[in-house]
Amino acid sequence: MDRQILVLNGPNLNLLGTREPDVYGAATLDEIVHDLRVVAADRGAEIKAVQSNVEGELVDALHDARTWADGVVFNPGAYTHTSIALRDAISAVGLPVVETHLSNVHAREEFRHRSMLSAVCVGVVCGFGPTSYRMALDGLLDHLDRDVG
Ligand code: DQA
Repeated sequence: MDRQILVLNGPNLNLLGTREPDVYGAATLDEIVHDLRVVAADRGAEIKAVQSNVEGELVDALHDARTWADGVVFNPGAYTHTSIALRDAISAVGLPVVETHLSNVHAREEFRHRSMLSAVCVGVVCGFGPTSYRMALDGLLDHLDRDVG
C-alpha cells in the first residue's frame, strides 16, 4: 500500500502567496501541496494536507495521524519557537516528523533561532522556499524506506 504522509502547516501559512513574499515567496500553500502530491505520487506516496492557525488543532492533527500516517512533513510556523505542547505531541505519537521552514530561520531574528521541536524530529529543512517541503518529503520517504526490513 502507498505510504501515507501528513503535510501539516501551522499559523499564517494559509496566507502564503500574499504574506511577506520577499521572505516566503510567491507560491500559495495550495500550489506547494499540489507540487508535493506530484512528487509523492512518483514515489508511491499519498499526501493529506492540513493547515490550522490553532495550536490545539495542530496537536489534534498529530494525534489523528497516529492512526493512519507513516510520517509527517510539518511547518509549525511561529509555534516552532514556543510550543511545548507540539513538542510533546510529536514525542507522544512517535511518528517520524520533519520540521520544515520556507525561510532560513537561522539567518533571521534571534527568537527564530531556537526551535522547541527540532530535538524530537528526525530532521530539519529550512531556507529553500517551497523546495524545503520537497526536500523534507524526500528525506522522510528515504527515512521510511531505511526503516523497513
Ligand atoms: C516559518 C518560519 C517561522 O519563524 C515563522 O514564524 C513562520 C514561517 C517558515 O516557514 O519559514 O510562520 O516557519
